[in-house]
Amino acid sequence: MSVEPKIAVRRVSKRFIGAKGVLPVVDNVDFSVADGEFVAIVGPSGCGKSTLMNIIAGFERPDDGQVQVDGQLQRGPSPKGILISQHGSVFPWLTVRENLMFGLTGQGAAQKAELADHYAAMVGLKGFEQAYPHELSGGMLKRAEIARALVVKPDILYMDEPFSALDALMSLRMRNELLRVLEEERHTVLLITHDVEEAVHLADRILVLSPRPARIQASFTVDLPHPRKLSSPQAQDLRERILAELGV
Ligand SMILES: Nc1ncnc2c1ncn2[C@@H]1O[C@H](COP(=O)(O)OP(=O)(O)OP(=O)(O)O)[C@@H](O)[C@H]1O
Ligand SMILES: [Mg+2]
Repeated sequence: MSVEPKIAVRRVSKRFIGAKGVLPVVDNVDFSVADGEFVAIVGPSGCGKSTLMNIIAGFERPDDGQVQVDGQLQRGPSPKGILISQHGSVFPWLTVRENLMFGLTGQGAAQKAELADHYAAMVGLKGFEQAYPHELSGGMLKRAEIARALVVKPDILYMDEPFSALDALMSLRMRNELLRVLEEERHTVLLITHDVEEAVHLADRILVLSPRPARIQASFTVDLPHPRKLSSPQAQDLRERILAELGV
C-alpha cells in the first residue's frame, strides 16, 4: 500500500436548506481510505450516508471540507470511480448487454459483448442479456447494476446499499462473488450498508456513523482473514460491538 491515501475525506460538512430551514446532514467527517482497502460505512437510516457517499464520489459538493482522490481535489464524478447508487443507475433504454457494454472502451464490439455477457452470467443474468431493465425484477436489476460497475474494472467502487434489494441467499451469493472479484482485481471499495453482518463479512475497516448529522462515531478494524466465518466468536463479537454502537 502506498503512503498517500487513495481517498482522503477532509473535514467534510453538508447541510440542506428546505422548507423547515437548515438541515445539517454531514458534520465534519474526516477519514482516509488506502489503496486497495475495503471500507464499510454503517449508520442509522436517514443519517446522511448517501449524501456523504455522493460527496465522496463527486456527485455532490460539500459545504465545508474537501475530498481528494489520489491527491487530487475531487471536483466532480471521475472515471476512476463508479457509483452503484441506492436509486439505480442503469439506462432504461438499453438492454442488459448494452448497459454492460456502455462503459467499455478500447475493444471491438464482439469483445465488448463477450465481456458483458461474462459479467451478466456472473451475477446470474444469463439468458437476460437482451432484456430491458423494465423486464427485470428488482433483484435482477440490482444485479445488473453490480455487473455494470464491475465490468469496467474501476479503480474505486462506491456502493450504496448494493445488496439490500436482494433476498438473503442472493445477497450472500453476491457478497461472495464480490470477494472473488476483489481477489482477482483489487479495487478500492467504499460500501454503505445497514447490514452489520455484511460489513463484517466484507470490509477491512468499518466506520459507524452517528444519527444525523452524520459524524464518525466509531471505527473498527476487521482483523479476520478471508474466507470469513461469520459464526466465529471473533466475528460475532465484532458484530455485537458495532450493534452496541448503533444502539441496538
Ligand atoms: N437533495 C436533498 N435536498 C434536501 N434534503 C436532502 C437531500 N438529500 C438528502 N436530504 C436529506 O438529508 C438527510 C440524509 O439523507 P441521506 O439520503 O443522505 O440519508 P441515508 O443515511 O442515506 O438514509 P437511508 O439509510 O435511508 O438510505 C435526510 O433527512 C434527507 O431528507
Ligand atoms: Mg441512503
